[in-house]
Amino acid sequence: MCGVVGYTGRKQAAAWLLDGLATLEYRGYDSAGIQVVSSSGNLHGVKCAGRVADLRERAAAANPEGTCGIGHTRWATHGAPTDRNAHPHLDGSGRIAVVHNGIIENFQELKRELMATGHQFRSDTDTEVIPHLIQEAWEGPAKGDLAMAVRNACDRLEGSWAVACVCADVPGTLVVTRKGSPLVVASTDDGAYAASDVMPLADVTSHVLQLNDYDVATLTSDGAIRIVDRDGRVVDNPTSFDIDWDASAAKMGGYSDFMAKEINEQPEAIERLLKDRLGEHGIELDELSLSRSELAAIDKIVIIACGTSYHVGLIAKVAIERWAKVPVAVEFASEFNYNEDYLVTDHTMCLVITQSGETADTLAAARRMRGMGCTVFAITNVLGSTAAREADGTLYIQAGPEVAVASTKAYTAQMIASYLLALRLAYANGRMTLAEVQKHYRDMEQVPDLMREVLNRRWQDKQASQRFRDKQSSLFLGRNVSSTTAYEGALKLKEISYLHAEAYPSGEMKHGPISLIEGGFPVVAIVPADHVHDKTVSNIQECLARGAVVIAVATDGDEKIAKMCQEVLWVPQCPDQLIVPAVSVIHLQLLARYVARERGYDVDKPRNLAKSVTVE
Ligand code: G6P
Repeated sequence: MCGVVGYTGRKQAAAWLLDGLATLEYRGYDSAGIQVVSSSGNLHGVKCAGRVADLRERAAAANPEGTCGIGHTRWATHGAPTDRNAHPHLDGSGRIAVVHNGIIENFQELKRELMATGHQFRSDTDTEVIPHLIQEAWEGPAKGDLAMAVRNACDRLEGSWAVACVCADVPGTLVVTRKGSPLVVASTDDGAYAASDVMPLADVTSHVLQLNDYDVATLTSDGAIRIVDRDGRVVDNPTSFDIDWDASAAKMGGYSDFMAKEINEQPEAIERLLKDRLGEHGIELDELSLSRSELAAIDKIVIIACGTSYHVGLIAKVAIERWAKVPVAVEFASEFNYNEDYLVTDHTMCLVITQSGETADTLAAARRMRGMGCTVFAITNVLGSTAAREADGTLYIQAGPEVAVASTKAYTAQMIASYLLALRLAYANGRMTLAEVQKHYRDMEQVPDLMREVLNRRWQDKQASQRFRDKQSSLFLGRNVSSTTAYEGALKLKEISYLHAEAYPSGEMKHGPISLIEGGFPVVAIVPADHVHDKTVSNIQECLARGAVVIAVATDGDEKIAKMCQEVLWVPQCPDQLIVPAVSVIHLQLLARYVARERGYDVDKPRNLAKSVTVE
């Protein structure tokens, strides 16, 4: 969702702000803008609905000069995505500019109050109250101190925010603050930078500082960063971390889109994740920070997640229940947060699965679980993300930056990470012997090569994608863990090809979705060689009898499926049923991508979606 960047230093600001916004495009947005302060104290802004590329064109014509500035990509919440509602927003004097990510819940009261004292508003956004409140403080108690003015203004806000502010009266000074929404800062020889996440910073530094909620940071053109906490105390040793990937990891590197790159990176991601994880006491998972007896005492696990990560949760439940024999509930974070009657035991562990580590609903749910006395363990991809910082322990999947909005490599890496946790638990509570743990680990070690094999068969997906030409809808079916693969495959297709896809457990098909089927209707059936294979075959027959075109995802050598189905996406033999979802899903990722490209869509930046959903 909204992306924030800020810079003050020796370079012209506009060029970096625009580049920074381009690297934040992946978060999802519908308008963009920058505001630059010249050394003589003039504010120069450019903003528009549309893409950063459109903003670049306007900026090239306007050529805003100055070495300090802020920028924003906006994902509309309050007010349509128009030029007028795009950030930055200005105060009444036109000398203070603000960009904001988050939601100001009490903006209507504040706006009424400000209007009553003569403030005039130009946009429909919640954000616009912030520069006006800063103006009030700047002209009142905080005169001459931008950081204090920003703090005073934010004291009035309810909700969440990452804010960056510049003022024409103090050129070269950039003030940023946050509560609930992500923001990092970095000091370099060239100046000081701020951004919603590390992506724009990877080109300029490998070392970033984190702000805690309510910290206010003042960045100056010499690169200095002064952070003051909520109580006004200077933060001498802010939390910092190193970006552990090369800036090139966030670039396309010869692929036509990030989604293609990330689908292809899955084998290496799994190799990295598994490296050095098997020790003499089973799976090494020090990140858990729980002793063996504490692990053995866990009697319930609640998995909290959204979107694709929720699907990981469904598979993790099967692995944990099968291997560790601990009952697992999987909850959509947004539903869990409003279920007042939720029950936990004395030894419930909360497992949070979130690739970004910033999903607002997931963070709220994790805080609630913690409030209920549960240990919170996070599986995430983003170093230093809020989920990681707030959890009792974090397992980083180390998949490298995932830029395409539709999650691919984070999905499979999170799945394997959850298997590591399941095996760790199973050994700790005595449900599995060391030899059994070793066997499952060896099975997982086969995943990268099995994935490579599927990637080599991408022509099958390309061919099958033709079956979706001119179609309005489709059905994805599977049983047991393959029903989750069906959900994930349907989600991928919906996300990027805008084609309706309904996913159902095969056995439920007769209770409704079968009525969708007519001549030529595409049905994707995930039917690997497992104990429910023949049951799904019967469901396929029912679809074929009604004229469906069936695209099966099946195991090599399945003659029955080869004869029955119009298209088959072949999956190599897998050593265990729980390995199949990590391998077969690659066909569905590829299929969704081919269908979307065939329809002429931008697979990396699907409309209306955001990579990191930072509002509830
Ligand atoms: C958004 C993204 C999805 C992602 C979901 C949960 O909807 O578009 O790709 O699965 O958020 O995100 P998280 O970062 O918590 O895994």
